Amino acid sequence: MKCVAVLLLTVLAAVRANDPVVRTAQGQLRGSVLRTVDGRDIFSFRGVPFAKPPVGDLRFKAPVPVESWDGIRNATEDGFACPQRWGSFGTRSEDCLFLNVYTTKLDVTTPRPVVVFFHPGGYFSVSGNSIWAGPNYLLDEDIVVVTANYRLGALGFLSLRDANLPGNYAMKDQVQVLRWVQENIAAFGGDAGSVTLAGYSAGAFSVILHMVSPMSQGLFHRAMAMSGSPLVEMVAGRPEDQARKQATLLNCTAEPVEEMVNCLRQKEARDFIGTFLSFREFANDPMLVFGPVVEPDLGDGTERFLTADPQELLLAGNFTKVPLMIGHTTMEFHWKGLQILQNSNWTEEMNSDFERIAPISFLYERGTEKSRRITAGLRKYYLKDQPITNASATGLGQLYSDSIIIFPVHRAAKLISAKNTAPVYFYKFSYAGRYSYVYDPLDSQRTYGVVHHDDLLYLFYNPTGSFKLFTPQDEEFPTMKKMIKIWSNFMKEGNPTPERTSLLSNVTWEPYTADNLKYLDIGSTLSMKEGLYSERIATWERLFPLPHTTNVKKG
Ligand SMILES: *[C@@H]1O[C@H](CO)[C@@H](O)[C@H](O)[C@H]1NC(C)=O
Ligand SMILES: *[C@@H]1O[C@H](CO)[C@@H](O)[C@H](O)[C@H]1NC(C)=O
Ligand SMILES: *[C@@H]1O[C@H](CO)[C@@H](O)[C@H](O)[C@H]1NC(C)=O
Ligand SMILES: *[C@@H]1O[C@H](CO)[C@@H](O)[C@H](O)[C@H]1NC(C)=O
Ligand SMILES: *[C@@H]1O[C@H](CO)[C@@H](O)[C@H](O)[C@H]1NC(C)=O
Ligand SMILES: *[C@@H]1O[C@H](CO)[C@@H](O)[C@H](O)[C@H]1NC(C)=O
Repeated sequence: MKCVAVLLLTVLAAVRANDPVVRTAQGQLRGSVLRTVDGRDIFSFRGVPFAKPPVGDLRFKAPVPVESWDGIRNATEDGFACPQRWGSFGTRSEDCLFLNVYTTKLDVTTPRPVVVFFHPGGYFSVSGNSIWAGPNYLLDEDIVVVTANYRLGALGFLSLRDANLPGNYAMKDQVQVLRWVQENIAAFGGDAGSVTLAGYSAGAFSVILHMVSPMSQGLFHRAMAMSGSPLVEMVAGRPEDQARKQATLLNCTAEPVEEMVNCLRQKEARDFIGTFLSFREFANDPMLVFGPVVEPDLGDGTERFLTADPQELLLAGNFTKVPLMIGHTTMEFHWKGLQILQNSNWTEEMNSDFERIAPISFLYERGTEKSRRITAGLRKYYLKDQPITNASATGLGQLYSDSIIIFPVHRAAKLISAKNTAPVYFYKFSYAGRYSYVYDPLDSQRTYGVVHHDDLLYLFYNPTGSFKLFTPQDEEFPTMKKMIKIWSNFMKEGNPTPERTSLLSNVTWEPYTADNLKYLDIGSTLSMKEGLYSERIATWERLFPLPHTTNVKKG
């Protein structure tokens, strides 16, 4: 017994002596050691503050850089996740502006490429914590990985599009992360001149928004947008209406505005979360309630994250020109159609009120003549103008997928490739392993298909969703290794297949253009193909025609 205790103490002491310490511009950090699948030590710095806690007077404000500290600050555990309705992404607190840094070598002579990953979650959920975005696969490559939290929901985005509530606090959190990286990443062995911005879903929306944002210029060198693009209605209805609705739900007066904002600053973060479900307008929709807005010019030099509609900026070529990797999974949100069909009330409601519901569920403008034309076109193409029954499962599933993810992703690829000076690489992820974010409701052993988030299983270890760490014994292991190789090649060189290798099926990933529509199909093998979902995409192009000339307001 005593012997065991002594041994344990010795082991603990040994681990502590090896704990890495790094000096940042704000102070010293003590990290801890995690392990990659191939057995490398990962020096991990978790819960690193990159801004002051956005509480009290700082709520609804751009982030303020964190103050320096004396001595060594522990960075050995994940920081708080931002307030959100559901758990499992870490302990929650409004004091949530933390990032994690992972590296396998601190004293490098040649600084390593850096990737900054912005998590998914519809701008209302998830976190960058290691329990959801574990570095155990990526760090077998010589790169430095940064994951970060940003404010969520009303606390991250509430906007009146004026000086009282300009909005985009969460997007400015992300910019602050990028500034932190420029200032500090060299101390972790990272190269501030080689930063890849990567994001999934809402994180991918964010990546493309950073490309058009004046605030993010010069802070990154490559971009990866996985399963998401901001070319949808990112806020359900008008932001002002949502802000006033939030105030009313929290018993705050909507007028005068100063009083409203003051009142909203007095409420607890959990009060906001308590009203989350009141923003649903049909079933679990809309998926996006609070999100990025075009920010007003306050005329006082306040930095604006987004100065115009992102589609107009992309059309005008007014974006940071960098290599872009972009794509989506085979089925994305197909399962949301099934969710409707399994609830007779929802099916009935969608049937009888399709014109009101379609713009809510499929994220486009409401109440206009154009909106009604789009609704009619979608109903014709996806539902053959028939009532919604179980026979509509495929059409409704595709409609959810195409509206929220697939068409906006294709349009972003098209607009960016037209004006970019660097290549755009397009993919479809179609590999079906044994694990998934969604299982067949009629057979819990069977995955539903290759859905939203499934490709992330091969990039980040996620222990919270009962996913396992893939080891060489697992049939998914080769796919994980291929994904890591492709993704890290891009992070290092801006080219996912710089050379032909057997691991990557000798494939050369050719860039996408609007003329060739080439994409890499990432299945159990890798192959180049052309013209993904072309009929479905053509339907959307017809319903959402691009303007012939652009007139972007400068500024
Ligand atoms: C930091 O961690 C060390 C080692 O685990 C511990 O001894 C120390 O009390 C911690 N410091 C703080 C401020 O929590
Ligand atoms: C708002 O008022 C209602 C009704 O009086 C009450 O139930 C609720 O707790 C209040 N909410 C907040 C956040 O004050
Ligand atoms: C967009 O255009 C404005 C005005 O010409 C310019 O100042 C800004 O740098 C451009 N933004 C990007 C991201 O290229
Ligand atoms: C449908 O609505 C009725 C009446 O509100 C309710 O009793 C029933 O439980 C609902 N069914 C489902 C599947 O939610
Ligand atoms: C679809 O089928 C399921 C059973 O597979 C059933 O529970 C459901 O009510 C059906 N939905 C419609 C709209 O017919
Ligand atoms: C790749 O090419 C090499 C050399 O031509 C060949 O030996 C190998 O079998 C190929 N591998 C695959 C997976 O096609």
